[in-house]
Amino acid sequence: MKLKNLKKKVALEALKFIPEKIFVGIGTGSTISYLINFLKNIKNKIKGAVSSSYETTMSLRRNGIKVVKLNSLDCLPLYIDSADEINNNMEMIKGGGAALTREKILASAADEFICIIDETKQVKTLGKFPLPIEVLPMSYRYVMKELKKIGGEVSKRNVITDNNNYILDISKLCILNPLEIENKINNIPGVISVGIFSQRKPDILLVSTKKNVKTFFYK
Ligand code: 5RP
Repeated sequence: MKLKNLKKKVALEALKFIPEKIFVGIGTGSTISYLINFLKNIKNKIKGAVSSSYETTMSLRRNGIKVVKLNSLDCLPLYIDSADEINNNMEMIKGGGAALTREKILASAADEFICIIDETKQVKTLGKFPLPIEVLPMSYRYVMKELKKIGGEVSKRNVITDNNNYILDISKLCILNPLEIENKINNIPGVISVGIFSQRKPDILLVSTKKNVKTFFYK
């Protein structure tokens, strides 16, 4: 089965987990773009969405789904997003689409976080996918120097984030202790956020395989 069909299949399955009359947080990326296409069919059943990026906001609006700001809500019942890598302990790398900071905010703010992936995202050890880090532009060379002490190869991505910052990627880093690396990188002045999600892990994981979609509950 083609990768895009695996992504579509898991996005369709996620609809079953969305209660009526709520605002839903929506992530960023190609899996999520399939979810948004399906979401338009139930747009009158939900109150609207909170978006994790400019790209997602545009796509939600094109599909007739109301977008509200996180600050306008007292609570966010649900956040749905995908990931770049996930290990057996439900720790993830995110940020392939450069939206990691807003994604982390929404995942943390939400009462429930559902992660939807295809089976190619499951790994034993995080780090094959280059680890994204959002940094303040004025600090990027200093942060690069500090990151090199951790290991791997650090490069600056040719992108400006929705928050007007830069993205650094660490490739060839074997992340054996995600929590420790997440905290270490978070502590470097100039770092806005790091794409390791080991503190806020998903409550529900949906994984599409060639045969079916598997559901795992962690709450
Ligand atoms: C964006 C992300 C995405 O969740 C991640 O990159 C997965 O994307 P895709 O669904 O295209 O494989 O973290 O910042």
